[in-house]
Amino acid sequence: MQYNNKTVWITGASSGIGKELAIQFAELGARVILSARNVDKLNDLKATLKGEGHLVVPLDLAQPEHVLSTITAKMGELPAIDILINNGGVSQRSLFLENDFNVYRQLMEVNYFGLIALTKAVLPTMVVRRSGSIVSISSVAGKVGSKFRTGYSGSKYAVVGFMDCLRAEVAEHNIHCLTICPGSIKTAIAHNSLNEQGIAQNKPEESIENGMDVSVAASKMICALGRVDLWWVNLQQYFWFLGKAEPM
Ligand SMILES: NC(=O)c1ccc[n+]([C@@H]2O[C@H](COP(=O)([O-])OP(=O)(O)OC[C@H]3O[C@@H](n4cnc5c(N)ncnc54)[C@H](OP(=O)(O)O)[C@@H]3O)[C@@H](O)[C@H]2O)c1
Repeated sequence: MQYNNKTVWITGASSGIGKELAIQFAELGARVILSARNVDKLNDLKATLKGEGHLVVPLDLAQPEHVLSTITAKMGELPAIDILINNGGVSQRSLFLENDFNVYRQLMEVNYFGLIALTKAVLPTMVVRRSGSIVSISSVAGKVGSKFRTGYSGSKYAVVGFMDCLRAEVAEHNIHCLTICPGSIKTAIAHNSLNEQGIAQNKPEESIENGMDVSVAASKMICALGRVDLWWVNLQQYFWFLGKAEPM
């Protein structure tokens, strides 16, 4: 796929996978829209990106109704979106028996309802143009359960189910849906993972520190997106284990 003059909207662009995707899409000639909560980090990233026309649109995925209303109202001011990458998210490292209920709310608001809200704001403009891709970053934890992830895994399974159904609904409008289920990638995800009180645990983890390099991971994701014309990729989830046993 050619990305020259394409507009790619990336959530979670202030860190990790989203930041690296932004860098690589800009290198490929795309205009990127950068979203996350940390506006300073987004502006710093924007200043370093290759090319022109990049935009910062701050949003808090933990407030999905606000995302839906403000972004729907803003769509007319933005360039036509060719690719939406629902990447922003938060993980968890805590046991069900010890978790505050609020941990589950936070994970579902950010990882699931926030993703649906932004997709709902953007997708109608793609349908009108009969063109576009919705890409959601789930996780291997969206396919396989493990300890310490009851909330995270639930939210990521939900993303997989949502995307499977959405794909079935919007194929007739010529909209492509891709779900990516990565294993461990070396980012700040472990530091930002919620503990049983719903607060970032703020510590590293061996499996993440030894995970795939984030630039390699981002280039594989872009490669997967580039294969949309291959019928067999459209018929399956793009499913990554990356040789890692522990789902993140
Ligand atoms: N790294 C891995 O091993 C791995 C594996 C499988 C799946 N994933 C998934 O990949 C995605 C990116 O994770 P990462 O590894 O790049 O982690 P990261 O470095 O912690 O980045 C997470 C990004 O999500 C944004 N975010 C978090 N809460 C948000 C909120 N309430 N509203 C808006 N943005 C929010 C953060 O920005 P702000 O803090 O500025 O808002 C940040 O840009 C996540 O969905 C994660 O579940 C990661």
